[in-house]
Amino acid sequence: MDNQKRGQWAGNIGFILAAAGSAVGLGNLVKFPYLAAKHGGGAFLLIYLLIVVLIGFPVMLAELTIGRKTNKNEIGAFRQLNKKFTWVGALGILTGFLINCYYCVIGGWTIKYLITYVTGANFGGDTDAFFGNFISSGLQPVLFALVFFVATGFIVWKGVAGGIEKASKFMMPALAILLVIIAIRSCTLPGAIEGIKYYLIPDFSKITGGTFIAALAQAFFSLSLGMGIMVTYGSYLSNKENLAKNALIVPAFDTIIAMTAGFAVLPAMFATGYEPAASTVGSLFVIMPGVFDKLPLPFVFGSLFFILVIFAALTSSISLMEGTVAYVSEEWKLGRTKAVLLVGAVETVLGILASLSLGGNINWMNWLPTVQAGGIKMMSFFDFLSENPDKLFMPIGAMMVCIFVGWFWGLDKAEEHIESEGNKFILKGYWRFAVKWIAPIAIFIIFLSGIGVINF
Ligand code: PHE
Repeated sequence: MDNQKRGQWAGNIGFILAAAGSAVGLGNLVKFPYLAAKHGGGAFLLIYLLIVVLIGFPVMLAELTIGRKTNKNEIGAFRQLNKKFTWVGALGILTGFLINCYYCVIGGWTIKYLITYVTGANFGGDTDAFFGNFISSGLQPVLFALVFFVATGFIVWKGVAGGIEKASKFMMPALAILLVIIAIRSCTLPGAIEGIKYYLIPDFSKITGGTFIAALAQAFFSLSLGMGIMVTYGSYLSNKENLAKNALIVPAFDTIIAMTAGFAVLPAMFATGYEPAASTVGSLFVIMPGVFDKLPLPFVFGSLFFILVIFAALTSSISLMEGTVAYVSEEWKLGRTKAVLLVGAVETVLGILASLSLGGNINWMNWLPTVQAGGIKMMSFFDFLSENPDKLFMPIGAMMVCIFVGWFWGLDKAEEHIESEGNKFILKGYWRFAVKWIAPIAIFIIFLSGIGVINF
């Protein structure tokens, strides 16, 4: 595991499940249904679909191509193609690294919830208070985060085919089956039909400029774009596989899961009198347990739901850690074992600090000042980690990937690689135009809106 030989996916299906595993995460399960509910149901679904095809696909293909062409980690890949763009790789790795610090903390919470259901404990009738008390209780959330970090690190340590691919091949199909079971339960509840109508019938009056921004930002986060994960995952793919086809299949998988999650979550919320919350965390840990409490057999559906959430989070956190580990092991020549120990340890320490910043006696952590549109805001270390990388760095990363491929490395060279070994390049003409113009401009607009320069 530690020698110079790079890992490679054992097969294309393994790659697809691993990449889809990265893409399908906490964002799909509750954030997507929330956005759909807020922005006109079916109208949002149409816009989201359009954005995934028009912008998600070209950016994903650009990232996969950079990775497979160079067979390197993200920094190595950019450096090889054009030294001046090495910083784009560095930014991507930094973004994934920071996101994983809080992502695994949330992952730890999902384990706590599963255990709560499995042991038959309940939430004391007040899921809001239960959640607030738990995350601010200091030691407990730290221990659960630790478990999640160790699980993530272990899978990454087992390697590309032996760890990530194997784990994804088990967890992704299981996730899909669990999601369908919960969606069927949700859609057959008395009163569910109102939720289904709300979800599917388009209400175009709710569409504003903000809808497009929200859909774009969600598509990027959901497809794990803009932080080099798809560069890294693409770098382990054999040259004979068709990148253009894969760049359509992975987003399709991700979108089907997100849309099914809408059926799992919204009708059940409607039937039990809840509304989806704006925050992913609030929906997952406060509202969904509240929903299950009102249904028969909360223990069964709560347990199944949190197993599903754990799988979704774990296949994403391994991709986040792998991006950094690939860099550290290859560029610092440490080998996989030492790289996992180092990256895992630093992420765990930062994750623990982030967790502690949510409460207990450690409120002194809430000192981090951040510049917001309206001035300076004080935030906890947890919010700092969770709000900045995805809103700021991710769009810059994705935009630079497009600018790099469209204007510097060159569409012709990218195209030549995509078509190598006789592979058919689906949607070639569109892809060229999108990478050069549509995607970078669209992403620049999200970026401006993310930093509050424009407001819709
Ligand atoms: N795509 C994951 C989700 O939807 C989150 C994620 C983002 C994972 C970036 C890896 C990289 O939750």
